Amino acid sequence: MNIDEGTLLKHPDRNLALELVRATEAAAIRSAPFIGKGDKNAADGAAVDAMRKFLATVDFDGVVVIGEGEKDQAPMLYNGERVGSGTGPSCDIAVDPIDGTSLTAAGRQNALSVIAVADRGSMFDPSAVFYMDKIVTGPEGHGVIDLERPIGDNIRALASAKGVAVADLHVAVLDPPRHADLIEQIRAAGASTELLLDGDVAGGINAARPDSPVDMCVGIGGTPEGIITACAVKALGGLIQARLAPQNDGERATARAAGHDLTAILDDSTLVRGDNVYFVATGITDGALLAGVRRSPGFIRTSSIVLRSHSGTIRRVIADHLTAKWYEADDR
Ligand code: FBP
Repeated sequence: MNIDEGTLLKHPDRNLALELVRATEAAAIRSAPFIGKGDKNAADGAAVDAMRKFLATVDFDGVVVIGEGEKDQAPMLYNGERVGSGTGPSCDIAVDPIDGTSLTAAGRQNALSVIAVADRGSMFDPSAVFYMDKIVTGPEGHGVIDLERPIGDNIRALASAKGVAVADLHVAVLDPPRHADLIEQIRAAGASTELLLDGDVAGGINAARPDSPVDMCVGIGGTPEGIITACAVKALGGLIQARLAPQNDGERATARAAGHDLTAILDDSTLVRGDNVYFVATGITDGALLAGVRRSPGFIRTSSIVLRSHSGTIRRVIADHLTAKWYEADDR
């Protein structure tokens, strides 16, 4: 990739993601005391509260497009809420203070705190469609993957594009009962599965990033998570295809009433338009993508990843927070 100096200098907002990472760090730290304590709502509440306070300190004019729900259901970070200091770039923002609330409550791996940001008006608005069928791969998937084909065909096509045997291909997939057939088909094709109890944002990023044992992430998961994943995949140059997948007649009727085409294949140019996309995530519990929050006497360590599509950078940020004071405090 050739990036000339002029291009870099043209983007004064290029540090936005590095500012936003403080908000995912805060959410992860504040949720850490709830890891393994069995109360996912308490964990989520702490993460939402911390993220919102830190977002207010960042110089941007954000509108929450993917949030914790409509205003009446969520007291903060609701869809449509304005966040940020109000000065600086006008952005859409998607937040998932905890992807993997149940994982956090159970003390299981792979819970993350996540934010994605793109230019105002560029993120797909899923309205009331909660689920989406998705397929994610690294850059080798461009031109060879087609969500409308059987999964076995896509597995063979990706193995061939990557120059590996199908038997060496690892496919991450959520493990709810609705995926029993899909999992069987993946194995029948000869690939191996990595079954996820929850957390298909981490699964999708692992499929798209270099240096990961996961080659593909597939299946029906949350629509908000799909759009957040699309932001990360765009920054990584990977492939994502998705199709809205309402799970009952009520959801289908709502989706049609909102004008959604339930047959349309959405990709990285429709899920998030343009090429000015930022993605940040901080690990809450340990996972293949990120280490979880470490609490030691005298400091708290967080591990984060910062992606920016325009520059094609993947930054890893390890922060040691030397004072535990603000961890207990209401604000910083
Ligand atoms: P939450 O942390 O919001 O509960 O989401 C976890 C998650 O596993 C997502 O990663 C995934 O997209 C979605 O839930 C799948 O939904 P469901 O658990 O209903 O199958």
